[in-house]
Amino acid sequence: MKISVIGGGSWGTTLAQVLEDNGHETLVYDINKEGVDKINKGIHPFFDLPIEKIKATTSLEETLNFSDHLVLAVPTKFMRQSLSDINKLSFRKNYFINVSKGIEPNTLKRVSEIVKDEISKEFLGAYAVLTGPSHAEEVILRKLTVLTAASETSWFAQTVQKLFSNRTYLRIYTSDDLIGCEVGGAIKNAIAIVSGIMTGFGLGENARAALITRGILEIVRVVSAMGGKKETAFGLTGIGDLIVTASSNNSRNFNAGLKIGQGIPVDQVLAESRMVVEGVRAIQAAKDLCIKEGIELPIIEVAYDVIFNQLPVKDAITLLLTRELKAETLE
Ligand SMILES: NC(=O)c1ccc[n+]([C@@H]2O[C@H](COP(=O)([O-])OP(=O)(O)OC[C@H]3O[C@@H](n4cnc5c(N)ncnc54)[C@H](O)[C@@H]3O)[C@@H](O)[C@H]2O)c1
Repeated sequence: MKISVIGGGSWGTTLAQVLEDNGHETLVYDINKEGVDKINKGIHPFFDLPIEKIKATTSLEETLNFSDHLVLAVPTKFMRQSLSDINKLSFRKNYFINVSKGIEPNTLKRVSEIVKDEISKEFLGAYAVLTGPSHAEEVILRKLTVLTAASETSWFAQTVQKLFSNRTYLRIYTSDDLIGCEVGGAIKNAIAIVSGIMTGFGLGENARAALITRGILEIVRVVSAMGGKKETAFGLTGIGDLIVTASSNNSRNFNAGLKIGQGIPVDQVLAESRMVVEGVRAIQAAKDLCIKEGIELPIIEVAYDVIFNQLPVKDAITLLLTRELKAETLE
């Protein structure tokens, strides 16, 4: 089958390789000509590793003509604009497989909602999100990975499952909890930044284990507040993705937090990051949600103050430790 990939960065190019490995034909679209040239020379634009068979273009029109199945792999920050561009050039129904993780600050919209805003009904065939614990750095080396495809349209979740699963390194589960899967993938980035901050500040593995455990409860609260199923947060797209992101140097969110914890100013860290640090937007969105829905997210709230109000990390830790003592609950 022919499949187009919108956004040929670390993840988009890697997933194009998965699809090629699985016998499909891909065309990757990116606005960055340098990256497109690299892909056409058989080199992964971010990892400088050899890739096979993938073709790339800077023409969105060519990409939409190539296939009606579109993998959306641009960072969420650019998603609305990208979808609006797609809508202008659409001439038939498109089938969207989103692999980007994030919630839009201010509107608090998930990518599926942004798709509904930007894509006219006549061009919107179906939508699924493919998400879970995955570093592109490992998938491109064909290291074993397990993800979830979620959709409100069960046949389309199964289509995505079949497109990406293979017998050697990638297994896909399906889910009907689109909200839970989208929200888990977005909010775990916020906790991953905090994990980096704590590590950079010099805290150890005890603290990280506590953060992951209490952090997943904050993800559960956000998932519930946004209408998802609590149990989804305890699956691949919640706790699974949190574990992989909160304890790995491959995570840009963890790395950004690491530098902040070491005392490098937040603005400098974000300006120097080669890639988009989506956890910062996730912290902003979750903080907005705290205010709107009245939910309690103590870790994310202090992280917000560290990032946006220059609260020293030392004071943030004191704030968390001096909260009212209470029984452990898993709500
Ligand atoms: N990298 C990973 O391991 C990984 C794993 C799972 C999910 N994701 C998610 O995938 C999304 C993309 O991440 P990434 O790591 O590939 O980011 P990246 O920064 O490596 O690449 C993003 C690419 O999108 C391109 N782009 C930006 N605006 C565009 C537009 N309007 N049209 C076309 N291309 C555009 C950029 O030029 C860049 O090449 C993120 O939401 C991320 O959370 C990444």
